[in-house]
Amino acid sequence: MASNGSDKKILLAIESSCDETACAFFDLDAFDNDTPIEDCLVAEKLSSQIKLHSDFGGVVPELASREHIRNLPLLINALHHETNIEKGAVKKIAVTAGPGLKGCLLVGVSYAKGLSLANNVPLIPINHLEAHILSGFYQLKKSTYLDKLPALALLVSGGHTQILLIEKVGEYKIIANTQDDAAGEAFDKIGSLLGFKYPAGKELSEWARNGSIVHTLPLPVQNVQDSFSFSGLKTAASQLIKKEVGQINSDIEKKKFIENFSASVENCIVQSLISKLEFWISDLAESHKLKSIVLCGGVAANETLKTAFKEVSIKNKLEALMPPFRFCTDNASMIAIAAALKMNNTITTNEPSTFPVKARWPLSEI
Ligand code: KG4
Ligand code: ZN
Repeated sequence: MASNGSDKKILLAIESSCDETACAFFDLDAFDNDTPIEDCLVAEKLSSQIKLHSDFGGVVPELASREHIRNLPLLINALHHETNIEKGAVKKIAVTAGPGLKGCLLVGVSYAKGLSLANNVPLIPINHLEAHILSGFYQLKKSTYLDKLPALALLVSGGHTQILLIEKVGEYKIIANTQDDAAGEAFDKIGSLLGFKYPAGKELSEWARNGSIVHTLPLPVQNVQDSFSFSGLKTAASQLIKKEVGQINSDIEKKKFIENFSASVENCIVQSLISKLEFWISDLAESHKLKSIVLCGGVAANETLKTAFKEVSIKNKLEALMPPFRFCTDNASMIAIAAALKMNNTITTNEPSTFPVKARWPLSEI
């Protein structure tokens, strides 16, 4: 006979901050029994809106919110159905409360509030960026994850490019930040100039694989260590593309140009990220007794960046914590992981009406 699941202690995690609707179940008993975090993840459902937004060259907030409204209940029901876990087994609900698109966040948070009120289950507000960082701890256990701190994190997504010092879970100091575009945005905007559909980062990196670094592009703000900047690169790339395209005479030449240009852009972005990471490692490793470095966010799916990051970790004798591909781009498992790791020092609430949505929520303000 199928279990009704109510003897279990399950956490339901919800993510809807941008263009991915996702929900996941996390086994809280297994986590308490020191099971590796990834094995506590029971199941996840995710619906990506990439196709819907790609014709517009970016996320259309109103369309994204409507998709979340349509998909979230369907995904949560499917999760219950697939896992045989009944509603009574859900003893906690974690939901992304920011940062993100306000309408999108409101869908997830409102739905979570409804479930919380109806079933008298506490809510845990999760910062999306913190979840990206903590997804790097997916192979650790309740008894071991603290051994990896202090750590330095390189957070690279579509909206953020930051180096952060993590002293404790919940205590983040922003060491370097972008002045303008995020790394993912630079991949997306330059990729779109090359004719790739939004979000162009993945396709650009696939073309880069067959290319050579032959184009000279400016390495952004090399001598300022606490900031990144990618808008100059974007302008230089745009001018170079216009100039070179006029000289292309065949499809073969065009293909080679796109491959080489993609490799050159990717190299430039990766070099910019890695050189600053190395600077901060050499500055902080001894004084802060760093134990590990974390690579996270959607751009962490980039193979060239991952390879360079691993080399830095080996060279500096710091453990590299890198989430697998499925935890790099937006997902609900990372929301569950963050909730579990923060459980003991996070305010949960049984009064969902006081639960805020924060479109802007820097990690320094957690
Ligand atoms: O973390 P994420 O899913 O969403 C935000 O919170 O922003 O990151 C999405 C970003 C997009 O800009 C996308 O182009 C980029 O991650 N991305 C990549 C790769 N895969 C995703 N950028 C470079 N190489 C990739 N393989
Ligand atoms: Zn994200």
